[in-house]
Amino acid sequence: MEAVDLALLEEFGLDPDVLHLNHGAFGVAPIAVRREAEAWRDRAERNPNHFNSVELPGHVAQARSDAAAWLGVDAEAVGWVRNVSEGASAVLGSLDLGRGDEIVVCNHGYGAVRMAAEHWAARRGAAVRVASFPLGAEDDEIIAAFVAASGPRSRLVIVDQITSPTATVLPVAAIAAAVGVPVLVDAAHVPGSLQVDIEHLGVAYWVGNLHKWAFTPRGTALLWTREDLRPRTPPSVLSWQLHDGYAEAFDHPGTGDYSGWLAAPAGLDFWTRLGGWEQIDRQSAMLDAAQKQLADVLGTSLDGLPVTPAPTMRMVRLPDRLFGDGDDSATRAERQRLSSEYGIQVPTSRFEGEQVIRIAGAAYNTPEDYERLADALVAILAGNS
Ligand SMILES: Cc1ncc(COP(=O)(O)O)c(C=O)c1O
Repeated sequence: MEAVDLALLEEFGLDPDVLHLNHGAFGVAPIAVRREAEAWRDRAERNPNHFNSVELPGHVAQARSDAAAWLGVDAEAVGWVRNVSEGASAVLGSLDLGRGDEIVVCNHGYGAVRMAAEHWAARRGAAVRVASFPLGAEDDEIIAAFVAASGPRSRLVIVDQITSPTATVLPVAAIAAAVGVPVLVDAAHVPGSLQVDIEHLGVAYWVGNLHKWAFTPRGTALLWTREDLRPRTPPSVLSWQLHDGYAEAFDHPGTGDYSGWLAAPAGLDFWTRLGGWEQIDRQSAMLDAAQKQLADVLGTSLDGLPVTPAPTMRMVRLPDRLFGDGDDSATRAERQRLSSEYGIQVPTSRFEGEQVIRIAGAAYNTPEDYERLADALVAILAGNS
């Protein structure tokens, strides 16, 4: 049995008494990156007037340029946003939606982004249509579902590049080519976990959080927009740099704490020093083994799980009798036991009728972590039968 990686847990400042198996939800910036953000805050406070009115624009633009280079895109093609919600809101707010128009989302999509789409659709007399496909669908079936939900009135198709409830990589480029409608890629989980050539996906917009898998301070994300759409895509917060160009307008959402964006390059450096894509491959291999082991111990099937799983997350089916069979408060209380009794942070949910658990594999996780999870699930199961 491999020992818990205490050194890395410490570098990330994580509580060693908790089993952290949900890195993808909120991410965590290593302590060194948090110190860098603190240093920027201190620097700003030494001479707030000069820092904010003279130094800040250059530093924010430089951090954007560094982050864009790390992502492999042009610095003028991306705008800083705090998160995917903010980026998606900017895109939705920029659309010229009319009565009868449609926005397409999917049944594996992120709830908050869907709510934003529904909000804008309702304001403009438009509708939201849902592309539906099962857990474990082949790419052809996924593409066909998006095509079936799209039509002549579709103005935007939102595609999650890595789905949140099902940790599946969706075939974004093929979907974009098949629907022939502007696509907004919700890439919340992508930066630092999945290699992607954004400029060649054939999409209109792409927004990804750096703070999940790329170790930047929370509140750092980038919205890439196709060149012809940039003049028509203002940020959701309009301020002094509104007329300075697409990227510059996003650089300045008014007075605030910019330390997260300024320290983002330190997080990206940390990701690279930790091993970059080779490290992600190691995490992915660890998760393959963990997924099999958990399914084996729980007696659930691996059939029909995502064909292309997220590199750093895996789904496992749970026995139906584990946490009750509803999504009611009793079931939720049962699920809470993993956290309250066993100190395990891991999301369990019901997707299209099936009880599932989503395990994350971060750099600080070890195979022993999944054995601990398996032991806890088996103990709960034994208590229920
Ligand atoms: C697919 C997906 N989209 C959007 C989000 C929202 O991210 P944020 O809260 O950072 O806006 C998440 C968060 O986990 C997500 O998984």
